[in-house]
Parts: sequence; C-alpha cells; structure tokens
Amino acid sequence: MSQPSPTLAVRVASKRTEALDICSLELVAADGTTLPAFTAGAHIDVHLPGGLVRPYSLCNPPSDTGRYVIGVLRDAHSRGGSVAVHDAVSEGTVLQISPPKNHFPLAPDADHHLLLGGGIGITPLLAMAEHLASQGESFELHHSTRSRERTPFTQRLATASFARHVHHHFDDGHDTQKLDIAATLKKTSPGTHLYVCGPQGFMDAVLGAARAQGWPEQRLHHEYFSAAPVDTAGDGSFELEVASTGQVIAVAPAQTALQALLAAGFDIPMSCEQGVCGTCLTGVKAGTPEHRDHYLTPEEQAANDQFLPCCSRAKSGRLVLDL
Ligand code: FES
Repeated sequence: MSQPSPTLAVRVASKRTEALDICSLELVAADGTTLPAFTAGAHIDVHLPGGLVRPYSLCNPPSDTGRYVIGVLRDAHSRGGSVAVHDAVSEGTVLQISPPKNHFPLAPDADHHLLLGGGIGITPLLAMAEHLASQGESFELHHSTRSRERTPFTQRLATASFARHVHHHFDDGHDTQKLDIAATLKKTSPGTHLYVCGPQGFMDAVLGAARAQGWPEQRLHHEYFSAAPVDTAGDGSFELEVASTGQVIAVAPAQTALQALLAAGFDIPMSCEQGVCGTCLTGVKAGTPEHRDHYLTPEEQAANDQFLPCCSRAKSGRLVLDL
C-alpha cells in the first residue's frame, strides 16, 4: 500500500481581497525557513479546515524562495473547499500543504507562448508570465472574465514589467474587446504553444477551437481546476484486482473506484476528486477503463494503462491495477 504523501506546515502571512469573491493567500514556512522551489504551472495541495484537500496553482514568480501565493474563488456550488478558504482561513492560520507538483509545465522549445486564462484560471498563467518575462521569452496573456469587478490581480498585471503583453476581455464589455478565441489562435506562428486554464466551458471552447484549426496535441497544454458534474445515473458495478496480491475489491454503482480502494485500506493520494489534478493516477495492467477525467491526454486515455480512480470507472467487468 502506498505511503501517505509528505506535507509541509505553512502559515498564512497575508490574506487579500483580489476581486469580488476572490481572495489570495500568501503562505510562508511555519518554521521561518525557505520553501521548496517550484516551476511555473505548479500547484500545491492544501489541507483545509474541515478535512478537505484541494489543489491550488501557485501564482507568484517562481524565483520567490520564501513564499507561495494562491488565488481562490469563492464558489457557492463547490463541495466546500473554496468556502473553507474564504471563511475559515485568516492571517496566522497554519495549514498543511503538499510540496509543489507541476503537471502543467511550460514547453522548453516553444517559439511563442499563448496563455489563455478564464476567471480564476489565470493563477498558473501568472507564474508562467512572470517566468517567461524574466527569461525574455515571447508570450502573450489573455484573461477573460465576467466583469472587471470579478477580475483578480488587475493591479499586479497593470504594474508588471510585462503589462504590454497582457490583454483583458470582459464578458459584460463591448463586443470589440471580447476574446475571439478562433482569431487569437489563428494569429500565432506554427511554433506557438497554447496554455489554457479556466472553467470547463472556457477550456472546452479553447481546446475545441485549437483542434478544429489543426493544432497538434503536443502544442496544447491545459489544466482544469474543476469539472462539470457527470451523469452517474447509469453507473454499474465492477471489480478491481490488486496485481501484487490478487485481492479483488468490488466497486458499487454509487461508489467511486477511489472510495472502494480507500475502504479496502489503500492509501491512494488524492486531492481534487474530480479527475482534474492527476494526484490519484493509478496504473492499469489489464481491463479497459472508462475514462472520465480531464487530466490525461486523448492519447494517454487511449493507451488504457492508467486511470484516475476518483472519477473514472470500467468498461470491462474488472480492472487489474498496478498496486
Ligand atoms: Fe484529482 Fe483524482 S484526485 S484526479
């Protein structure tokens, strides 16, 4: 069985209102030491009051060694993570976090980087913009939001050294300033890499437009931070077999594979529980998963040698897991 993931203790050094329903937390090591280095696009898993664990992208410059900054949208429809940050965390609160992990890195060989953020999805792109600007690399950042009052980090972006590369688009503004996804994608050179983060509808629109224009998958980089609810009404039962021991675990229709594994005593790392963060990724040695995640690429899903048990199920009656 896997070991529990290590955690770090951090203290909330400051909590700021960044926009309507959006706050940022500046986290420093609780013992006053430095924090592990991170690269642009990385996130941390934050253990919140109430027991939830949620992933949040780091949005400060990766050159910072003494702090992590995260931005959090209060989402009334969430399962409690964002509300806990807004209501139960304040300056001085000590939290446990995971070390930074990066499933959304910058491509080292891009001629140009096109960063498209929807709403709070700007956070990993902020760290990317900071890094790219510090390296003198070619990039542009487009931020699409519902309105100016719901747009976080405007002051920081307005005063950044790279402000001329930043474009704001407001849904309630004039048509001429709204984000024209297809036109923005079309204007780029063949060596451009696309990075997109935001609500699922925004991400689906951007990635769909890019694929329709023939962008190859290796130039598309994305990070979902939440997923739309899946209709689970038709879900059936299936079995998981533990390859190392032969143990068979039944997954009931109303249960996720992850819940069944946890109930059987397996300590599978997890965070988002929505198939977007990749934390629970588990190898599959036999059987066919029914992939429901937004983390694996279409090619990785087609290989059927790994799946995300927090959301994905099985097309075959049994999956043999690399555990
Ligand atoms: Fe995030 Fe499964 S816990 S993908």
